[in-house]
Amino acid sequence: MIRLGTLSKALLAQVGAMGVVLLALNLGLLGNTPFIGWLVLMQSGIATIFAWLLKSDRWWLIIHAVFPVALALASRLQLDSAWYLAGFVVLLLVFGPTVRTRVPLYLSNQTTAAALTGFLKPHVFDLGPDPGAQKTVLDFGSGTGSMLKHLARDHPLHRFEGIEGAWLPYLVSRLACAGLSNVVIKQGDFWSKSLTPYCAVYAFLSTEPMPRLWEKAKREMTPGSFLISNSFQVPGQTPTKVICVDDARQTELFVYRL
Ligand SMILES: C[S@@+](CC[C@H](N)C(=O)[O-])C[C@H]1O[C@@H](n2cnc3c(N)ncnc32)[C@H](O)[C@@H]1O
Repeated sequence: MIRLGTLSKALLAQVGAMGVVLLALNLGLLGNTPFIGWLVLMQSGIATIFAWLLKSDRWWLIIHAVFPVALALASRLQLDSAWYLAGFVVLLLVFGPTVRTRVPLYLSNQTTAAALTGFLKPHVFDLGPDPGAQKTVLDFGSGTGSMLKHLARDHPLHRFEGIEGAWLPYLVSRLACAGLSNVVIKQGDFWSKSLTPYCAVYAFLSTEPMPRLWEKAKREMTPGSFLISNSFQVPGQTPTKVICVDDARQTELFVYRL
């Protein structure tokens, strides 16, 4: 059986719906001069049904329902096509890796950063075989660097590294952390980054990559080190500790000791 990816399903739903609308037009089922608004609504509705039949995630159904309508409304604005190209390029620079890894950009808030700081000091920096020695923490998919900046300021004696795949957040993070000598941020794919040198790895990703991240952590991280995941648990693994953050979204940090 063929297993379709998320984007293939999305394309199939829209192209399939367009096929049905064009067929209905050609067969004269919609009259001689159908109202364009009805055609757009048909496209939205049929694409949504196709996406549902293809077992797309729920949010894709909303996207399919809204996308043709938004496209029709945008075309009425008669914007220069360069604007669409510019929008596409900006989205690519911000969400480029999301297509492959299904991890979008959303940021840890300052309350969560303070909670992580509170955990790292007694459990990682002041404990272990070499308390007091300089230790290194990795933000796996470091976004705009807000977590790294907060941690680096709170713990000036320790080192904080980040790896970020999307160019625009990466450049923003380099600017944000420019004055901090204990922060190093690289642009690249986090799957090709070894986790061995780190006493703690922080990840704020999505449900999709958690099993793969856990396998990588088990293979590469040293015994006694920590994997800390914001909001997303490793399926089938009981966390060593759960830190409940007192913020608006009641964030949970799942701590796994390797
Ligand atoms: C949810 S954000 C978290 C940002 C940051 N860690 C924070 O807590 O504020 C996840 C980040 O991972 C990045 N990302 C997704 N896939 C990636 C990949 N394969 N390699 C590197 N970064 C990736 C995304 O671009 C995004 O910036």
